[in-house]
Amino acid sequence: MKLNAIDIFSNWAESGKDDSMAKAHKPAVFEMLQFIYQSFNNSFSFIDAGCGNGWVVKEIISNSKCSRAIGVDGSAKMIEKAKSQDSNGTYFCSDLVEWEPKKKVDIVHSMEVLYYFKKPYKVIKHIVENWLKPSGLLIIGIDHYIGNPDSYSWSTDLNVHMTLLSEAEWIHMFEKAGLVDCNSWRANQTNNSQGTLVISGRMLKK
Ligand SMILES: C[S@@+](CC[C@H](N)C(=O)[O-])C[C@H]1O[C@@H](n2cnc3c(N)ncnc32)[C@H](O)[C@@H]1O
Repeated sequence: MKLNAIDIFSNWAESGKDDSMAKAHKPAVFEMLQFIYQSFNNSFSFIDAGCGNGWVVKEIISNSKCSRAIGVDGSAKMIEKAKSQDSNGTYFCSDLVEWEPKKKVDIVHSMEVLYYFKKPYKVIKHIVENWLKPSGLLIIGIDHYIGNPDSYSWSTDLNVHMTLLSEAEWIHMFEKAGLVDCNSWRANQTNNSQGTLVISGRMLKK
């Protein structure tokens, strides 16, 4: 039987592996943050969906344009760690499909999280319907995708469910959920690495 992704990452939080994971994700996430800063001239509110130890929330809240930053993760150990390392962000421990913010936000970011869901479309739709303001931005980064063969064995290696989809399938889910201006690109691509597949999409103005 496959293990539960949240249990795996709780063990990583306990063993300190969350820090090396954050370090590995940093170059791609910094490219995603640059895209965010260029897309928003005015102040913005932000949620990191599957925030791990909170390092992205901590990073973005130091930007003068960020008015509010929230991290949500299903792992109590990750959230405990995030709260202990960051007194400026707000953190919630919950499954993403069961949580919604009191106030909708301008930006939802998520790095290396959505393919752990058996039905990623359900989470995307939930975020579109309940988390994002009109004109808001959803931006996700994933390293497990069709086109990155190095990642194909990860589900077996970690003994956890992962949904392996193509770039076109991710974009289709964004569009089906109602997002517009959908874009994709590879962040942190090198000669030795396919890089992180980044997908972004905007809410309609209403
Ligand atoms: C690969 S880690 C990425 C963490 C963080 N985004 C980062 O870049 O360091 C995936 C995270 O997603 C969380 N996660 C997985 N499934 C989840 C779910 N159903 N609801 C909430 N969080 C979940 C895990 O607990 C873990 O912290």
